[in-house]
Amino acid sequence: MPVEKLPTDGDWPSLRWDTRFATGHPGIDTEHQRLVRLLEKLCEIERGTAAIERLPRVLVELQRYTRYHFAHEAQLMAEHAIPAAHVQSHLAAHALFIDHLAEATRQSARDAHAVSGDLLRFLGRWLVAHILDTDRALVRELRHARKR
Ligand SMILES: [Fe+2]
Repeated sequence: MPVEKLPTDGDWPSLRWDTRFATGHPGIDTEHQRLVRLLEKLCEIERGTAAIERLPRVLVELQRYTRYHFAHEAQLMAEHAIPAAHVQSHLAAHALFIDHLAEATRQSARDAHAVSGDLLRFLGRWLVAHILDTDRALVRELRHARKR
């Protein structure tokens, strides 16, 4: 689903976990639930319903857990015969997100107030769109792929 077409609540996508987010892969879904919870925290800070001082910690945790989760997906792709085009674009998408997240984390370490709301909204929308689209496609591929 393109980012622009996401259901939004104000400028943020709806971040309550529900079955829309489920890919059907238990390991991936468990990790996505944790990511969505971290995004909810980001959303609360962006909306001003949680203290901005919490931002650096939330971003560091999001970065740590995202790297872990992306590595898990990369491992699943390496262990199964997934079409190369999917693997290439999926890994490129992960790398792009990590770059933006690293930038937000650097900014917030210097000054939490200086982190752009656009960047936070981008992170939230990107991750939701990625789960709904690219990760669902990956799980469909995994279902049919043979183990290497
Ligand atoms: Fe992914």
